[in-house]
Amino acid sequence: MSKVSYEEILSIQRKVNIVDIVSDYVKLTQKGRNYFGVCPFHDDHNPSMSVSTDKQMFKCFVCGVSGNVFNFVMNYHNDVLGEDINYYEAVKKVADKIGVSIDIASKKDVKIKSPLYDIYELSVMFYQNYLNTGSGKIAKKYLNERKIDEDVIKTFQIGLSTNNNELSKLLKEKNYSENDIISSGISISKNNELIDIYHNRIMFPLYDLNGSPVGFSGRIYDGSSDSKYVNTKETDIFKKGNLLYNYHNANVYARKQKEIIVVEGFMDVIRLYTIGVKNVIATMGTAVTKTQASLMKRLSYNIILMFDGDEAGSKATMSAIEELKDMDVNIKIVRLEDNLDPDEYILTKGKDKMLYHLSHPTSLLSYKMEKYKEGLDFNESEDISKYINLIKSELEKIDDDIVRDLEIKKVSKFTGVSEEIINSKLDIKNKDVKIVKSLKEDKTKLDKYQKASKYILFYMIRHNNLIDYYYNNLSFLPNTVDRALANEIVLFYKKYNSFNFNDFIVYLKDKKELIKRAVYINDLNYKDEYLMEDIDSYFKVIKEFLNELKINKLKNELKNEKNEIIRKEIARKIVSIKMKENK
Ligand code: CTP
Ligand code: MN
Repeated sequence: MSKVSYEEILSIQRKVNIVDIVSDYVKLTQKGRNYFGVCPFHDDHNPSMSVSTDKQMFKCFVCGVSGNVFNFVMNYHNDVLGEDINYYEAVKKVADKIGVSIDIASKKDVKIKSPLYDIYELSVMFYQNYLNTGSGKIAKKYLNERKIDEDVIKTFQIGLSTNNNELSKLLKEKNYSENDIISSGISISKNNELIDIYHNRIMFPLYDLNGSPVGFSGRIYDGSSDSKYVNTKETDIFKKGNLLYNYHNANVYARKQKEIIVVEGFMDVIRLYTIGVKNVIATMGTAVTKTQASLMKRLSYNIILMFDGDEAGSKATMSAIEELKDMDVNIKIVRLEDNLDPDEYILTKGKDKMLYHLSHPTSLLSYKMEKYKEGLDFNESEDISKYINLIKSELEKIDDDIVRDLEIKKVSKFTGVSEEIINSKLDIKNKDVKIVKSLKEDKTKLDKYQKASKYILFYMIRHNNLIDYYYNNLSFLPNTVDRALANEIVLFYKKYNSFNFNDFIVYLKDKKELIKRAVYINDLNYKDEYLMEDIDSYFKVIKEFLNELKINKLKNELKNEKNEIIRKEIARKIVSIKMKENK
Protein backbone atom coordinates (compact mmCIF):
# COMPACT_ATOMS: atom_id res chain seq x y z
CA MET A 1 0.00 0.00 0.00
CA SER A 2 2.30 2.72 -1.13
CA LYS A 3 1.13 6.27 -1.18
CA VAL A 4 2.52 9.15 -3.15
CA SER A 5 4.95 11.12 -0.98
CA TYR A 6 4.99 14.80 -0.09
CA GLU A 7 8.06 15.25 -2.34
CA GLU A 8 6.31 13.62 -5.31
CA ILE A 9 3.30 15.85 -4.80
CA LEU A 10 5.56 18.89 -4.75
CA SER A 11 7.17 17.85 -8.00
CA ILE A 12 3.75 17.43 -9.63
CA GLN A 13 2.71 20.85 -8.39
CA ARG A 14 5.82 22.37 -9.98
CA LYS A 15 5.00 20.74 -13.31
CA VAL A 16 1.41 21.94 -13.61
CA ASN A 17 0.00 25.36 -14.14
CA ILE A 18 -3.03 25.90 -11.94
CA VAL A 19 -4.63 28.07 -14.62
CA ASP A 20 -4.65 25.16 -17.10
CA ILE A 21 -6.23 22.79 -14.62
CA VAL A 22 -8.85 25.20 -13.25
CA SER A 23 -9.81 26.12 -16.84
CA ASP A 24 -10.91 22.53 -17.32
CA TYR A 25 -13.59 23.16 -14.71
CA VAL A 26 -14.37 26.87 -14.83
CA LYS A 27 -14.21 29.42 -17.61
CA LEU A 28 -11.40 31.84 -16.83
CA THR A 29 -10.69 35.27 -18.25
CA GLN A 30 -7.29 36.91 -18.08
CA LYS A 31 -6.99 40.33 -16.47
CA GLY A 32 -3.43 41.47 -16.11
CA ARG A 33 -1.34 38.82 -14.44
CA ASN A 34 -4.31 37.05 -12.93
CA TYR A 35 -7.26 35.06 -14.20
CA PHE A 36 -10.84 35.43 -13.02
CA GLY A 37 -13.89 33.17 -13.08
CA VAL A 38 -17.22 32.54 -11.40
CA CYS A 39 -16.56 30.77 -8.11
CA PRO A 40 -18.11 27.28 -8.27
CA PHE A 41 -18.15 26.92 -4.49
CA HIS A 42 -20.91 29.34 -3.69
CA ASP A 43 -23.91 30.68 -5.54
CA ASP A 44 -22.58 33.52 -7.65
CA HIS A 45 -22.73 35.00 -11.12
CA ASN A 46 -19.84 37.43 -10.85
CA PRO A 47 -16.22 36.51 -11.47
CA SER A 48 -15.17 36.64 -7.83
CA MET A 49 -12.60 33.86 -7.98
CA SER A 50 -9.07 34.73 -8.96
CA VAL A 51 -6.39 32.29 -10.07
CA SER A 52 -2.84 33.48 -9.87
CA THR A 53 -0.08 32.16 -12.11
CA ASP A 54 2.61 33.72 -9.93
CA LYS A 55 1.34 32.29 -6.71
CA GLN A 56 -0.15 29.10 -8.20
CA MET A 57 -3.13 29.60 -5.92
CA PHE A 58 -6.84 30.25 -6.36
CA LYS A 59 -8.96 32.36 -4.08
CA CYS A 60 -12.57 33.53 -3.96
CA PHE A 61 -13.06 37.05 -2.68
CA VAL A 62 -16.61 36.35 -1.63
CA CYS A 63 -16.62 32.97 0.12
CA GLY A 64 -12.92 32.96 0.92
CA VAL A 65 -12.22 29.42 -0.28
CA SER A 66 -8.65 29.17 -1.48
CA GLY A 67 -5.66 26.92 -1.95
CA ASN A 68 -3.50 25.29 -4.57
CA VAL A 69 -4.39 23.20 -7.61
CA PHE A 70 -4.99 20.03 -5.58
CA ASN A 71 -7.31 21.81 -3.18
CA PHE A 72 -9.28 23.19 -6.11
CA VAL A 73 -9.70 19.80 -7.77
CA MET A 74 -10.62 18.08 -4.52
CA ASN A 75 -13.15 20.77 -3.56
CA TYR A 76 -14.65 20.75 -7.02
CA HIS A 77 -15.22 17.01 -7.16
CA ASN A 78 -16.59 16.87 -3.64
CA ASP A 79 -18.55 20.08 -3.24
CA VAL A 80 -19.71 20.69 -6.77
CA LEU A 81 -19.95 17.23 -8.31
CA GLY A 82 -20.96 15.62 -5.03
CA GLU A 83 -18.33 12.90 -5.30
CA ASP A 84 -16.30 11.73 -2.38
CA ILE A 85 -12.63 11.86 -3.32
CA ASN A 86 -9.74 12.22 -0.93
CA TYR A 87 -6.68 14.41 -1.27
CA TYR A 88 -4.56 11.75 -2.93
CA GLU A 89 -7.25 11.04 -5.50
CA ALA A 90 -7.26 14.76 -6.30
CA VAL A 91 -3.49 14.70 -6.69
CA LYS A 92 -3.87 11.73 -9.02
CA LYS A 93 -6.44 13.54 -11.14
CA VAL A 94 -4.03 16.44 -11.59
CA ALA A 95 -1.12 14.08 -12.30
CA ASP A 96 -3.20 12.23 -14.89
CA LYS A 97 -3.92 15.47 -16.69
CA ILE A 98 -0.23 16.12 -17.22
CA GLY A 99 0.53 12.49 -18.01
CA VAL A 100 2.43 11.68 -14.84
CA SER A 101 1.55 8.33 -13.36
CA ILE A 102 1.50 8.04 -9.61
CA ASP A 103 0.58 5.31 -7.22
CA ILE A 104 -2.17 6.03 -4.76
CA ALA A 105 -3.09 2.39 -4.34
CA SER A 106 -5.26 1.99 -1.32
CA LYS A 107 -7.29 -0.94 -0.13
CA LYS A 108 -10.30 0.51 -1.88
CA ASP A 109 -8.66 0.41 -5.30
CA VAL A 110 -7.16 -3.03 -4.95
CA LYS A 111 -10.37 -4.71 -3.85
CA ILE A 112 -12.08 -6.54 -6.67
CA LYS A 113 -15.58 -5.34 -7.34
CA SER A 114 -18.10 -7.80 -5.99
CA PRO A 115 -20.17 -9.59 -8.68
CA LEU A 116 -23.20 -8.66 -6.62
CA TYR A 117 -23.07 -5.14 -8.06
CA ASP A 118 -23.62 -6.48 -11.58
CA ILE A 119 -26.37 -8.75 -10.37
CA TYR A 120 -28.16 -5.77 -8.90
CA GLU A 121 -27.71 -3.62 -11.93
CA LEU A 122 -29.24 -6.30 -14.08
CA SER A 123 -32.06 -6.94 -11.63
CA VAL A 124 -32.99 -3.27 -11.49
CA MET A 125 -33.30 -3.21 -15.27
CA PHE A 126 -35.26 -6.43 -15.27
CA TYR A 127 -37.81 -5.14 -12.77
CA GLN A 128 -38.08 -1.81 -14.57
CA ASN A 129 -38.81 -3.56 -17.85
CA TYR A 130 -41.39 -5.83 -16.32
CA LEU A 131 -43.31 -2.89 -14.87
CA ASN A 132 -43.66 -1.59 -18.41
CA THR A 133 -45.13 -4.79 -19.82
CA GLY A 134 -48.82 -5.63 -19.91
CA SER A 135 -48.41 -7.53 -16.64
CA GLY A 136 -47.46 -4.26 -14.97
CA LYS A 137 -50.79 -2.54 -15.64
CA ILE A 138 -52.26 -2.91 -12.17
CA ALA A 139 -49.01 -1.91 -10.50
CA LYS A 140 -48.77 1.14 -12.76
CA LYS A 141 -52.33 2.04 -11.90
CA TYR A 142 -51.47 1.78 -8.22
CA LEU A 143 -48.45 4.02 -8.67
CA ASN A 144 -50.40 6.53 -10.67
CA GLU A 145 -53.15 6.58 -8.10
CA ARG A 146 -50.48 7.40 -5.56
CA LYS A 147 -49.48 10.25 -7.88
CA ILE A 148 -46.18 8.72 -8.82
CA ASP A 149 -45.77 9.57 -12.46
CA GLU A 150 -43.49 8.23 -15.18
CA ASP A 151 -40.77 10.75 -14.43
CA VAL A 152 -40.51 9.71 -10.82
CA ILE A 153 -40.67 6.02 -11.74
CA LYS A 154 -37.67 6.58 -13.99
CA THR A 155 -35.70 8.73 -11.56
CA PHE A 156 -36.01 6.25 -8.72
CA GLN A 157 -35.80 3.23 -11.03
CA ILE A 158 -38.99 1.76 -9.65
CA GLY A 159 -39.88 -1.68 -11.03
CA LEU A 160 -42.06 -4.73 -10.55
CA SER A 161 -41.18 -8.32 -9.64
CA THR A 162 -42.81 -11.18 -11.51
CA ASN A 163 -45.07 -13.99 -10.34
CA ASN A 164 -42.66 -16.69 -11.38
CA ASN A 165 -38.89 -17.06 -11.13
CA GLU A 166 -37.89 -15.27 -14.30
CA LEU A 167 -35.19 -13.15 -12.68
CA SER A 168 -33.42 -16.15 -11.17
CA LYS A 169 -33.48 -17.79 -14.59
CA LEU A 170 -32.10 -14.72 -16.28
CA LEU A 171 -29.26 -14.40 -13.79
CA LYS A 172 -28.30 -18.02 -14.38
CA GLU A 173 -28.41 -17.52 -18.12
CA LYS A 174 -26.03 -14.62 -17.70
CA ASN A 175 -23.63 -17.07 -16.09
CA TYR A 176 -23.62 -15.73 -12.56
CA SER A 177 -22.73 -18.51 -10.16
CA GLU A 178 -25.55 -19.96 -8.09
CA ASN A 179 -23.54 -19.03 -5.07
CA ASP A 180 -23.40 -15.35 -6.02
CA ILE A 181 -27.07 -15.25 -6.99
CA ILE A 182 -28.08 -16.68 -3.63
CA SER A 183 -25.75 -14.49 -1.62
CA SER A 184 -27.11 -11.43 -3.42
CA GLY A 185 -30.37 -12.01 -1.59
CA ILE A 186 -32.38 -12.03 -4.80
CA SER A 187 -32.97 -15.79 -4.94
CA ILE A 188 -33.04 -18.83 -2.71
CA SER A 189 -32.45 -22.44 -3.58
CA LYS A 190 -35.35 -24.85 -3.19
CA ASN A 191 -35.21 -28.48 -4.33
CA ASN A 192 -32.10 -27.63 -6.30
CA GLU A 193 -33.83 -24.82 -8.10
CA LEU A 194 -33.42 -21.09 -7.86
CA ILE A 195 -36.53 -19.29 -6.68
CA ASP A 196 -37.06 -15.50 -6.73
CA ILE A 197 -37.43 -13.91 -3.30
CA TYR A 198 -39.73 -11.21 -4.58
CA HIS A 199 -43.03 -12.04 -6.17
CA ASN A 200 -45.44 -9.47 -7.44
CA ARG A 201 -44.16 -6.50 -5.50
CA ILE A 202 -43.36 -2.98 -6.56
CA MET A 203 -39.60 -2.84 -6.38
CA PHE A 204 -37.72 0.16 -5.01
CA PRO A 205 -33.96 -0.14 -5.53
CA LEU A 206 -31.86 0.81 -2.50
CA TYR A 207 -28.52 2.38 -3.29
CA ASP A 208 -25.17 2.57 -1.60
CA LEU A 209 -23.40 5.86 -1.00
CA ASN A 210 -22.04 5.93 -4.54
CA GLY A 211 -25.44 5.37 -6.06
CA SER A 212 -25.00 1.72 -7.04
CA PRO A 213 -28.09 -0.40 -6.38
CA VAL A 214 -27.28 -2.90 -3.64
CA GLY A 215 -30.69 -4.01 -2.40
CA PHE A 216 -34.44 -3.74 -2.81
CA SER A 217 -37.49 -2.87 -0.85
CA GLY A 218 -40.52 -4.57 -2.36
CA ARG A 219 -43.99 -3.18 -1.61
CA ILE A 220 -47.32 -4.94 -1.93
CA TYR A 221 -49.85 -3.10 -4.02
CA ASP A 222 -52.81 -5.42 -4.37
CA GLY A 223 -53.29 -6.61 -0.82
CA SER A 224 -51.94 -10.08 -1.59
CA SER A 225 -49.75 -10.22 1.47
CA ASP A 226 -49.77 -8.58 4.86
CA SER A 227 -46.14 -7.55 5.08
CA LYS A 228 -46.13 -4.14 3.44
CA TYR A 229 -42.44 -4.01 2.65
CA VAL A 230 -39.93 -6.81 2.22
CA ASN A 231 -36.30 -5.75 2.24
CA THR A 232 -33.26 -7.55 0.89
CA LYS A 233 -31.33 -9.41 3.58
CA GLU A 234 -27.99 -7.99 4.62
CA THR A 235 -25.22 -8.94 2.21
CA ASP A 236 -21.56 -8.07 1.70
CA ILE A 237 -22.59 -4.95 -0.15
CA PHE A 238 -25.88 -4.15 1.62
CA LYS A 239 -25.90 -3.12 5.25
CA LYS A 240 -29.01 -1.13 6.03
CA GLY A 241 -27.45 0.64 9.00
CA ASN A 242 -24.59 1.93 6.84
CA LEU A 243 -26.64 3.68 4.23
CA LEU A 244 -29.31 6.27 3.86
CA TYR A 245 -31.86 6.23 1.06
CA ASN A 246 -31.06 8.85 -1.59
CA TYR A 247 -27.68 9.80 -0.08
CA HIS A 248 -25.98 9.91 -3.48
CA ASN A 249 -28.59 12.20 -5.01
CA ALA A 250 -29.00 14.44 -1.97
CA ASN A 251 -25.27 15.06 -1.62
CA VAL A 252 -24.99 17.90 -4.09
CA TYR A 253 -28.24 19.58 -3.01
CA ALA A 254 -27.44 19.36 0.69
CA ARG A 255 -24.10 21.03 0.15
CA LYS A 256 -25.62 23.74 -1.97
CA GLN A 257 -28.51 24.43 0.38
CA LYS A 258 -26.36 23.87 3.46
CA GLU A 259 -29.06 21.72 4.96
CA ILE A 260 -30.16 18.08 4.90
CA ILE A 261 -33.70 16.92 5.58
CA VAL A 262 -34.10 13.51 7.17
CA VAL A 263 -37.34 11.55 6.79
CA GLU A 264 -38.35 7.99 7.68
CA GLY A 265 -39.64 6.45 4.48
CA PHE A 266 -38.36 6.40 0.93
CA MET A 267 -41.88 7.29 -0.23
CA ASP A 268 -41.40 10.53 1.68
CA VAL A 269 -38.17 11.22 -0.19
CA ILE A 270 -39.85 10.50 -3.49
CA ARG A 271 -42.82 12.75 -2.72
CA LEU A 272 -40.61 15.61 -1.55
CA TYR A 273 -38.69 15.27 -4.80
CA THR A 274 -41.86 15.89 -6.76
CA ILE A 275 -42.25 19.28 -5.08
CA GLY A 276 -38.63 20.18 -5.77
CA VAL A 277 -37.16 19.38 -2.35
CA LYS A 278 -34.09 17.32 -3.18
CA ASN A 279 -31.77 17.68 -0.20
CA VAL A 280 -33.53 14.82 1.52
CA ILE A 281 -32.65 11.31 2.69
CA ALA A 282 -34.54 8.52 4.47
CA THR A 283 -33.56 6.32 7.39
CA MET A 284 -35.95 3.63 6.14
CA GLY A 285 -37.79 2.98 9.31
CA THR A 286 -34.98 1.83 11.56
CA ALA A 287 -33.37 3.62 14.48
CA VAL A 288 -30.56 5.93 13.35
CA THR A 289 -27.17 4.24 13.72
CA LYS A 290 -23.82 5.87 14.55
CA THR A 291 -22.74 5.43 10.94
CA GLN A 292 -25.91 7.02 9.62
CA ALA A 293 -25.52 9.93 12.02
CA SER A 294 -22.02 10.65 10.75
CA LEU A 295 -23.21 10.30 7.16
CA MET A 296 -25.83 12.95 7.85
CA LYS A 297 -23.17 15.22 9.25
CA ARG A 298 -21.11 14.68 6.11
CA LEU A 299 -24.00 15.98 4.07
CA SER A 300 -24.56 19.04 6.19
CA TYR A 301 -24.01 20.62 9.57
CA ASN A 302 -27.67 21.66 9.52
CA ILE A 303 -29.95 18.68 9.95
CA ILE A 304 -33.74 18.88 9.85
CA LEU A 305 -35.53 15.85 11.26
CA MET A 306 -38.98 15.46 9.73
CA PHE A 307 -40.27 12.09 10.81
CA ASP A 308 -43.85 10.82 10.63
CA GLY A 309 -46.34 12.93 12.57
CA ASP A 310 -47.54 10.01 14.67
CA GLU A 311 -46.41 8.79 18.09
CA ALA A 312 -43.87 6.39 16.54
CA GLY A 313 -42.41 9.28 14.58
CA SER A 314 -42.13 11.31 17.74
CA LYS A 315 -40.23 8.49 19.45
CA ALA A 316 -38.00 8.09 16.40
CA THR A 317 -37.27 11.82 16.52
CA MET A 318 -36.13 11.62 20.13
CA SER A 319 -33.91 8.62 19.46
CA ALA A 320 -32.36 10.26 16.40
CA ILE A 321 -31.60 13.33 18.52
CA GLU A 322 -29.91 11.04 21.04
CA GLU A 323 -27.66 9.61 18.32
CA LEU A 324 -26.84 13.03 16.88
CA LYS A 325 -26.45 15.06 20.02
CA ASP A 326 -22.70 14.69 20.51
CA MET A 327 -21.83 15.21 16.88
CA ASP A 328 -21.57 18.98 16.80
CA VAL A 329 -24.41 19.46 14.36
CA ASN A 330 -27.27 21.89 14.36
CA ILE A 331 -30.47 19.89 14.73
CA LYS A 332 -33.88 21.33 13.92
CA ILE A 333 -37.20 19.59 13.95
CA VAL A 334 -40.39 19.59 11.96
CA ARG A 335 -43.44 17.87 13.45
CA LEU A 336 -46.35 17.39 11.08
CA GLU A 337 -49.89 17.66 12.33
CA ASP A 338 -52.67 15.06 12.14
CA ASN A 339 -50.32 12.07 12.44
CA LEU A 340 -49.37 12.43 8.79
CA ASP A 341 -46.10 11.35 7.21
CA PRO A 342 -44.45 13.78 4.78
CA ASP A 343 -45.85 11.93 1.77
CA GLU A 344 -49.43 12.04 3.04
CA TYR A 345 -48.95 15.61 4.22
CA ILE A 346 -48.00 16.86 0.79
CA LEU A 347 -50.86 14.98 -0.84
CA THR A 348 -53.53 16.17 1.58
CA LYS A 349 -52.35 19.62 2.67
CA GLY A 350 -50.35 20.66 -0.37
CA LYS A 351 -46.91 21.73 -1.36
CA ASP A 352 -47.04 25.22 0.14
CA LYS A 353 -47.87 24.04 3.63
CA MET A 354 -44.99 21.58 3.46
CA LEU A 355 -42.59 24.27 2.27
CA TYR A 356 -43.77 26.51 5.08
CA HIS A 357 -42.97 23.79 7.60
CA LEU A 358 -39.54 23.27 6.13
CA SER A 359 -38.69 26.93 6.31
CA HIS A 360 -39.94 27.18 9.90
CA PRO A 361 -38.39 24.25 11.75
CA THR A 362 -38.29 24.23 15.54
CA SER A 363 -34.99 24.61 17.37
CA LEU A 364 -33.86 21.58 19.33
CA LEU A 365 -34.35 23.38 22.62
CA SER A 366 -37.87 24.59 21.88
CA TYR A 367 -38.71 21.08 20.78
CA LYS A 368 -37.45 19.65 24.03
CA MET A 369 -39.20 22.37 26.02
CA GLU A 370 -42.50 21.18 24.58
CA LYS A 371 -41.57 17.54 24.79
CA TYR A 372 -40.61 17.60 28.48
CA LYS A 373 -43.92 19.21 29.27
CA GLU A 374 -45.86 16.19 28.08
CA GLY A 375 -47.69 14.57 30.98
CA LEU A 376 -46.93 17.45 33.33
CA ASP A 377 -49.44 19.91 34.71
CA PHE A 378 -48.13 23.43 35.19
CA ASN A 379 -50.86 24.14 37.70
CA GLU A 380 -48.97 21.82 40.01
CA SER A 381 -45.86 23.40 41.51
CA GLU A 382 -44.26 19.98 41.86
CA ASP A 383 -44.64 19.39 38.15
CA ILE A 384 -43.06 22.74 37.40
CA SER A 385 -40.13 21.86 39.61
CA LYS A 386 -39.80 18.51 37.82
CA TYR A 387 -39.88 20.33 34.54
CA ILE A 388 -37.15 22.81 35.51
CA ASN A 389 -34.94 19.94 36.53
CA LEU A 390 -35.45 18.28 33.16
CA ILE A 391 -34.77 21.39 31.13
CA LYS A 392 -31.84 22.45 33.33
CA SER A 393 -29.34 20.12 31.69
CA GLU A 394 -30.39 21.39 28.27
CA LEU A 395 -29.74 24.97 29.29
CA GLU A 396 -26.37 24.06 30.77
CA LYS A 397 -25.26 22.70 27.43
CA ILE A 398 -25.53 26.07 25.72
CA ASP A 399 -22.04 27.57 25.51
CA ASP A 400 -23.03 30.97 24.32
CA ASP A 401 -24.06 33.18 27.26
CA ILE A 402 -26.34 35.33 25.19
CA VAL A 403 -28.18 32.42 23.64
CA ARG A 404 -28.49 30.79 27.04
CA ASP A 405 -29.85 33.94 28.56
CA LEU A 406 -32.51 34.24 25.88
CA GLU A 407 -33.52 30.62 26.32
CA ILE A 408 -33.77 31.09 30.07
CA LYS A 409 -36.15 33.98 29.41
CA LYS A 410 -38.29 31.65 27.30
CA VAL A 411 -38.36 28.95 29.96
CA SER A 412 -39.21 31.57 32.56
CA LYS A 413 -42.14 32.81 30.52
CA PHE A 414 -43.25 29.27 29.77
CA THR A 415 -43.26 28.15 33.39
CA GLY A 416 -43.73 31.34 35.39
CA VAL A 417 -40.55 30.63 37.34
CA SER A 418 -38.31 33.68 37.67
CA GLU A 419 -35.12 33.91 35.61
CA GLU A 420 -33.07 34.31 38.80
CA ILE A 421 -34.25 31.00 40.19
CA ILE A 422 -33.66 29.17 36.93
CA ASN A 423 -30.21 30.75 36.73
CA SER A 424 -29.37 29.72 40.27
CA LYS A 425 -30.17 26.10 39.38
CA LEU A 426 -27.71 26.00 36.52
CA ASP A 427 -24.28 24.56 36.89
CA ILE A 428 -22.24 26.18 34.14
CA LYS A 429 -19.10 24.15 33.71
CA ASN A 430 -17.50 25.67 30.66
CA LYS A 431 -16.22 28.72 32.47
CA ASP A 432 -13.21 29.06 30.17
CA VAL A 433 -15.36 28.99 27.10
CA LYS A 434 -17.56 31.58 28.72
CA ILE A 435 -14.65 33.88 29.43
CA VAL A 436 -13.26 33.62 25.92
CA LYS A 437 -16.75 34.33 24.65
CA SER A 438 -17.14 37.38 26.86
CA LEU A 439 -13.80 38.66 25.64
CA LYS A 440 -14.92 38.09 22.11
CA GLU A 441 -17.90 40.28 22.70
CA ASP A 442 -15.58 43.13 23.41
CA LYS A 443 -15.11 44.19 19.82
CA THR A 444 -12.17 46.53 20.28
CA LYS A 445 -10.24 43.95 22.27
CA LEU A 446 -11.04 41.32 19.70
CA ASP A 447 -9.73 43.57 16.96
CA LYS A 448 -6.57 44.12 18.93
CA TYR A 449 -5.86 40.42 19.42
CA GLN A 450 -6.80 39.52 15.90
CA LYS A 451 -4.63 42.20 14.47
CA ALA A 452 -1.70 41.07 16.58
CA SER A 453 -2.21 37.44 15.51
CA LYS A 454 -2.40 38.36 11.85
CA TYR A 455 0.74 40.41 12.13
CA ILE A 456 2.65 37.65 13.87
CA LEU A 457 1.57 35.01 11.36
CA PHE A 458 2.28 37.24 8.38
CA TYR A 459 5.90 37.77 9.44
CA MET A 460 6.42 34.17 10.53
CA ILE A 461 5.58 33.16 6.96
CA ARG A 462 8.17 35.57 5.57
CA HIS A 463 10.99 35.43 8.08
CA ASN A 464 12.16 32.05 9.28
CA ASN A 465 13.87 33.43 12.37
CA LEU A 466 10.51 34.61 13.66
CA ILE A 467 9.18 31.05 13.60
CA ASP A 468 11.70 30.08 16.26
CA TYR A 469 11.11 33.35 18.07
CA TYR A 470 7.39 32.61 18.23
CA TYR A 471 8.00 29.05 19.33
CA ASN A 472 10.34 30.06 22.15
CA ASN A 473 8.57 33.16 23.42
CA LEU A 474 4.85 32.86 22.79
CA SER A 475 3.55 29.58 21.32
CA PHE A 476 0.00 30.78 21.71
CA LEU A 477 -2.60 32.72 19.75
CA PRO A 478 -6.13 33.30 21.06
CA ASN A 479 -8.01 32.16 17.98
CA THR A 480 -8.10 28.37 17.48
CA VAL A 481 -7.52 28.46 13.73
CA ASP A 482 -4.67 30.97 14.03
CA ARG A 483 -3.11 28.93 16.80
CA ALA A 484 -3.35 25.73 14.76
CA LEU A 485 -1.86 27.52 11.78
CA ALA A 486 1.06 28.82 13.82
CA ASN A 487 1.61 25.30 15.14
CA GLU A 488 1.72 23.88 11.63
CA ILE A 489 4.18 26.57 10.55
CA VAL A 490 6.44 25.62 13.45
CA LEU A 491 6.14 21.91 12.70
CA PHE A 492 6.82 22.43 9.01
CA TYR A 493 9.84 24.58 9.73
CA LYS A 494 11.27 22.10 12.23
CA LYS A 495 10.84 19.29 9.73
CA TYR A 496 12.26 20.93 6.62
CA ASN A 497 14.52 23.60 8.11
CA SER A 498 13.15 26.23 5.78
CA PHE A 499 9.83 27.72 4.93
CA ASN A 500 8.25 28.09 1.53
CA PHE A 501 4.62 29.11 1.34
CA ASN A 502 3.61 26.97 -1.65
CA ASP A 503 5.27 23.89 -0.22
CA PHE A 504 3.60 24.60 3.08
CA ILE A 505 0.17 24.53 1.42
CA VAL A 506 1.01 21.17 -0.15
CA TYR A 507 2.10 20.02 3.29
CA LEU A 508 -1.29 21.07 4.73
CA LYS A 509 -2.95 18.72 2.22
CA ASP A 510 -6.73 19.10 2.62
CA LYS A 511 -6.93 21.13 5.81
CA LYS A 512 -9.39 23.52 4.24
CA GLU A 513 -9.84 25.97 7.09
CA LEU A 514 -6.12 26.34 7.73
CA ILE A 515 -5.39 26.78 4.03
CA LYS A 516 -8.06 29.44 3.75
CA ARG A 517 -6.61 31.32 6.69
CA ALA A 518 -3.02 30.87 5.52
CA VAL A 519 -3.77 32.25 2.05
CA TYR A 520 -5.72 35.12 3.57
CA ILE A 521 -2.82 36.06 5.83
CA ASN A 522 -0.20 35.61 3.16
CA ASP A 523 -2.12 37.98 0.91
CA LEU A 524 -2.38 40.77 3.48
CA ASN A 525 -1.04 44.11 2.36
CA TYR A 526 1.60 44.59 5.04
CA LYS A 527 5.08 45.63 4.13
CA ASP A 528 7.57 42.81 3.87
CA GLU A 529 10.08 44.15 6.37
CA TYR A 530 9.37 44.27 10.06
CA LEU A 531 10.66 46.01 13.17
CA MET A 532 11.56 43.77 16.07
CA GLU A 533 9.94 46.18 18.50
CA ASP A 534 6.65 45.81 16.62
CA ILE A 535 6.84 42.06 16.91
CA ASP A 536 7.56 42.36 20.62
CA SER A 537 4.63 44.68 21.15
CA TYR A 538 2.30 42.22 19.38
CA PHE A 539 3.60 39.40 21.52
CA LYS A 540 2.82 41.59 24.52
CA VAL A 541 -0.75 42.08 23.34
CA ILE A 542 -1.26 38.32 23.12
CA LYS A 543 0.25 37.85 26.57
CA GLU A 544 -2.24 40.40 27.85
CA PHE A 545 -4.97 38.19 26.48
CA LEU A 546 -3.60 35.19 28.35
CA ASN A 547 -3.45 37.22 31.53
CA GLU A 548 -6.95 38.47 31.09
CA LEU A 549 -8.08 34.88 30.66
CA LYS A 550 -6.34 33.93 33.90
CA ILE A 551 -7.70 36.92 35.78
CA ASN A 552 -11.25 36.27 34.62
CA LYS A 553 -10.97 32.71 35.75
CA LEU A 554 -9.71 33.76 39.16
CA LYS A 555 -12.42 36.38 39.49
CA ASN A 556 -14.97 33.70 38.85
CA GLU A 557 -13.45 31.49 41.49
CA LEU A 558 -13.57 34.45 43.81
CA LYS A 559 -17.27 34.91 43.17
CA ASN A 560 -18.05 31.36 44.26
CA GLU A 561 -15.59 31.11 47.14
CA LYS A 562 -16.84 31.62 50.72
CA ASN A 563 -13.69 30.77 52.63
CA GLU A 564 -11.88 34.01 53.59
CA ILE A 565 -8.38 32.54 53.51
CA ILE A 566 -8.82 31.09 50.05
CA ARG A 567 -10.42 34.34 48.89
CA LYS A 568 -7.36 36.27 49.99
CA GLU A 569 -5.09 33.83 48.19
CA ILE A 570 -7.05 34.25 44.95
CA ALA A 571 -7.01 38.02 45.26
CA ARG A 572 -3.26 37.93 45.79
CA LYS A 573 -2.84 35.91 42.59
CA ILE A 574 -4.89 38.43 40.64
CA VAL A 575 -2.80 41.33 41.89
CA SER A 576 0.42 39.54 41.06
CA ILE A 577 -0.66 38.94 37.46
CA LYS A 578 -1.61 42.60 37.11
CA MET A 579 1.71 43.72 38.59
CA LYS A 580 3.70 41.61 36.15
CA GLU A 581 1.73 43.01 33.29
CA ASN A 582 2.53 46.61 34.19
CA LYS A 583 6.21 45.98 34.44
N1 CTP B 1 -40.19 -0.29 6.39
C1 CTP B 1 -39.69 -1.55 6.25
N2 CTP B 1 -40.46 -2.64 6.53
C2 CTP B 1 -41.74 -2.49 6.94
C3 CTP B 1 -42.27 -1.20 7.08
C4 CTP B 1 -41.45 -0.13 6.79
O1 CTP B 1 -38.54 -1.70 5.87
N3 CTP B 1 -42.48 -3.54 7.18
C5 CTP B 1 -39.32 0.87 6.08
C6 CTP B 1 -39.43 1.28 4.65
O2 CTP B 1 -38.13 1.52 4.18
C7 CTP B 1 -40.22 2.54 4.68
C8 CTP B 1 -39.97 3.08 6.07
O3 CTP B 1 -39.70 1.95 6.85
O4 CTP B 1 -39.72 3.44 3.72
C9 CTP B 1 -41.13 3.84 6.64
O5 CTP B 1 -42.22 2.98 6.85
P1 CTP B 1 -43.72 3.44 6.71
O6 CTP B 1 -43.91 4.77 7.31
O7 CTP B 1 -44.60 2.32 7.16
O8 CTP B 1 -43.84 3.50 5.15
P2 CTP B 1 -44.33 4.67 4.24
O9 CTP B 1 -43.16 5.49 3.88
O10 CTP B 1 -45.46 5.37 4.83
O11 CTP B 1 -44.75 3.84 2.96
P3 CTP B 1 -46.17 3.80 2.28
O12 CTP B 1 -46.59 5.21 2.16
O13 CTP B 1 -45.91 3.13 0.98
O14 CTP B 1 -47.08 3.01 3.15
MN1 MN C 1 -46.86 6.58 3.84
